[in-house]
Amino acid sequence: MKIVLVDGDGREQALDAIEGWRVMEIIRDHGFPIIAECGGACACGTCQVEVDPRWTAKLHDPREDELDMLDQNYAGEWSRLSCQLIFTPDLNGLRLRIAPVALATAA
Ligand code: FES
Repeated sequence: MKIVLVDGDGREQALDAIEGWRVMEIIRDHGFPIIAECGGACACGTCQVEVDPRWTAKLHDPREDELDMLDQNYAGEWSRLSCQLIFTPDLNGLRLRIAPVALATAA
């Protein structure tokens, strides 16, 4: 099973995904520069991703605390916190990009 990560230049990369893992963990464990400062506690907003609109209907609705954190972090229409998205087989092929606010930049 895979998720598809799109970079700023539109290049796609398929990442192996494990059921039960947070999408944030999948991205991070493949070495991509997502900040995810709080480690998945829904307390930082720096794991924000922009989900391909064709996939949003497959995702559960965000909880109140996720919505609050998105509100504080320049979220766009298709934004979600990747630490709040648990990978399941029906998300095989999920397509997304790391939001600019969540990209770690080289020091
Ligand atoms: S890792 Fe901090 S809100 Fe997701």
